[in-house]
Amino acid sequence: MNDPLSLVRSLVRELHPYVPGEQPKLKGLIKLNTNENPYPPSPKVLRAIRTAVDERLRLYPNPSAETLREKLAKFHRCAPENIIVGNGSDELLALSVRCFVEPGGMVQYFAPGYSLYPVLAATHGAMSVPASLQADFGLPKAWDIHAPLTFITSPNAPGGRGYTSAELENVCVRHKGALVLDEAYADFANENALELALKYQNVLVARTFSKGYSLCFLRVGYMAGHPTLISALHKIRDSYNVNGIAQIAATATLDDLAHYRKNFKRVIASRERTTADLRKLGFEVLPSQTNFVFTRPPRFPAKEWLDRLRARKILVRWFNHSGLEDRLRISIGSDAEMDALVRAVRAILK
Ligand SMILES: Cc1ncc(COP(=O)(O)O)c(C=O)c1O
Repeated sequence: MNDPLSLVRSLVRELHPYVPGEQPKLKGLIKLNTNENPYPPSPKVLRAIRTAVDERLRLYPNPSAETLREKLAKFHRCAPENIIVGNGSDELLALSVRCFVEPGGMVQYFAPGYSLYPVLAATHGAMSVPASLQADFGLPKAWDIHAPLTFITSPNAPGGRGYTSAELENVCVRHKGALVLDEAYADFANENALELALKYQNVLVARTFSKGYSLCFLRVGYMAGHPTLISALHKIRDSYNVNGIAQIAATATLDDLAHYRKNFKRVIASRERTTADLRKLGFEVLPSQTNFVFTRPPRFPAKEWLDRLRARKILVRWFNHSGLEDRLRISIGSDAEMDALVRAVRAILK
């Protein structure tokens, strides 16, 4: 028998996979490491999920999430043909690489950005081409406008900086290749750029139900853009890429937006309070338009802060990536969780 590893393509053998934030089995930890929403889905959404769990489970779901796409189209004042739904926005980011980039071609991303992009490029046998953001996470002055695919995390992750639609439009106007604006955190930002996906034929906006809408567990994201790009993405997705419960939950979410808008405001208020509290304790904290803050902690190396906070049952995120090693990304939890964080920081500094 051959070594089973010899059956695996060398590209896959050598791949460094994406490392998701830890989902700990330990109970009682305060989880500020994966930008989940501290508040549960609305009672109406939970009810819709519960009533969907019946004998229907034996049937396949709608293959293109038709009802949800119709609702999303209404929400964004476009047509269902402008929308594709995915198993999380991660799936749609991966489909974009497969749809727009030849193996061996180029995947460009404004960096630092979402660390999944280079992994998607490598998986496809494509080259990763980072275009450096400015030191304050401002948009780069130069990038390859002809790259077949460019990702922009907007607002930025892990930096948290938001961009105005005017400055993003400047990028769209100049760009020739496909451009994905990854708006995972748009619900916590001052502005979003969805209209650009409906205005420019090469622009797609990716959104998720994971962050603002508390549905990480069910994995629902979507992209909006020109029908030609959207139908190309539909061609290469799995036939039933979004499970039926997720479709029902996301549809019910769109029927209860007032509930979620209150949550966005609560998260934003906690973010501003946490920013001020951490700054008073000597942390450098970048202004954020997301549900997390990107900080440079004082006194000890960031990795040591990660370990010391964990010892106090608080999980935050540290990236072992060059240029980011002195930072901690801290998700915004409930007010009680953020109070516990600030207390733990004070105790560590004592
Ligand atoms: C910038 C960015 N895009 C996309 C995603 C993935 O979202 P989803 O849960 O919809 O796959 C994340 C998740 O952390 C993210 O940070």
